[in-house]
Amino acid sequence: MVSLQELKAHLTANPGPIGVFDSGYGGLTILEKIREALPEYDYIYLGDNARTPYGTRSFEVVYEYTRNAVIKLFEMGCHLVILACNTASAKALRSIQMNDLPGIDPDRRVLGVIRPTVECIGEITTSGHVGILATLGTINSESYPLEINKLFPEIVVTGEACPMWVSLVENNEAADDGADYFVRKYIDHLLATDPQIDTMVLGCTHYPLLLPKISRIVPAGIKIVAQGEYVARSLKDYLQRHPEMDAKCTKHGSCLFYTTENKDKFMESASLFLSTPIEAEHITID
Ligand code: DGL
Repeated sequence: MVSLQELKAHLTANPGPIGVFDSGYGGLTILEKIREALPEYDYIYLGDNARTPYGTRSFEVVYEYTRNAVIKLFEMGCHLVILACNTASAKALRSIQMNDLPGIDPDRRVLGVIRPTVECIGEITTSGHVGILATLGTINSESYPLEINKLFPEIVVTGEACPMWVSLVENNEAADDGADYFVRKYIDHLLATDPQIDTMVLGCTHYPLLLPKISRIVPAGIKIVAQGEYVARSLKDYLQRHPEMDAKCTKHGSCLFYTTENKDKFMESASLFLSTPIEAEHITID
């Protein structure tokens, strides 16, 4: 772990890529949408695959892992880091923004995926009843109801933890018939808890890979919100509103991929999440 002094000495004023961090592969679904919306920018994707999943870990551990990953991305030249992981956004973002950034470099920014996702909810629900499908960590953090009710106090939010869904995706079982049981199980339970739900948010980066199944199982008329496009739209808007940050982001259309796991394993599994093959490098996070 580098000291604050060492880190400050290491940080440069030169523009750099936008950092995109996830506990593993799921953030690739967000990265893809961001790159579609903002293709001219440079990106570094960092997946902490060696320590995934984060969804079942404690607040303290997710905070420590995420903070160290953010510092790594700063060291690699990023001025802006997106936590493309709901669990990290739920459990670590606020502490990093409030406690760490002022000491590390108050001009760097870390943004999450929950706020951009919930901003669209008011336009989508008509019944005013919204369901959140996410990891246990995200549901227990209550981040989605808190953020939604800050903007839309009248909306009733019900969370459903889907602990099997990340495993189904990671094990390439998302399209398998056997996955139907677990997809149906959590959706049925959510609708039994609140039958008035007309909008379901996929509050985990892995879940878009289950979308074909989810869409088949969710009753007609219920809208399903996959967050990638909302996060991308929000980032575009942020960069327009913050020209000083935009000027610190390089624009050559490149993307580098780093993983804390074996790079060959990462490249193979990343193909589940991305439409084109990639090259990746191994990296260690303290
Ligand atoms: N990326 C995580 C999220 O969006 C899911 C995977 C994990 O549990 O680490 O919550």
